[in-house]
Amino acid sequence: MIESKSRCWDNVFGYLEADMTKGLINLCDKWIKKDMIGVEIGSFAGVSSKVISYYCYKLTCIDPWVIGCDLGYKEISRDKIMLAEHKFDLMLQTCKNIEKVVGFSLDVCKKFDNNTLDFVYIDGAHDYESSYLDLISWKYKVKVGGLLMGHDKGLIEKSLKDANIVVVDEFCDTSWVSIK
Ligand SMILES: C[S@@+](CC[C@H](N)C(=O)[O-])C[C@H]1O[C@@H](n2cnc3c(N)ncnc32)[C@H](O)[C@@H]1O
Repeated sequence: MIESKSRCWDNVFGYLEADMTKGLINLCDKWIKKDMIGVEIGSFAGVSSKVISYYCYKLTCIDPWVIGCDLGYKEISRDKIMLAEHKFDLMLQTCKNIEKVVGFSLDVCKKFDNNTLDFVYIDGAHDYESSYLDLISWKYKVKVGGLLMGHDKGLIEKSLKDANIVVVDEFCDTSWVSIK
């Protein structure tokens, strides 16, 4: 059994449910199977990573853990990201099925073969260009019948539409699911 926790830093979105893992737990209960291999883009302190890894066989977590406002990433400050990496590393010691990959989503994406992943959960940068590129790049890495998923659906509606991603399920934390 896994408990719902605060997944990020503050209640920045102005409503609590989006910050909690309850919706993600519901998503995993419904969609993630024990034999699945997947990737998470944007792992921050590892709160969502821990939940997803509890449900699957192997999870690769991708995050540069270095960017901040000065490098064009305005969502979280550099000091919070650095602290988050420390928390991620502590969490990693308890989750043997997680592989940590330090890097930018689109660079690491090139290292995966097409049609090989059971799922990808996207929660990196949420601006239009970054989220659109994440969607169109990672969807090729998911097997046919596999899952392209993510967080903060409300922030990336236009990217989802332009990338022709049809959302088939949504959860109270604004997590979403599509099937390739
Ligand atoms: C909202 S936080 C992720 C929260 C985490 N998924 C959770 O729910 O516990 C977004 C993360 O995306 C990362 N990020 C931003 N741009 C990225 C990129 N291009 N590639 C990978 N990760 C990125 C940031 O460093 C940050 O840690």
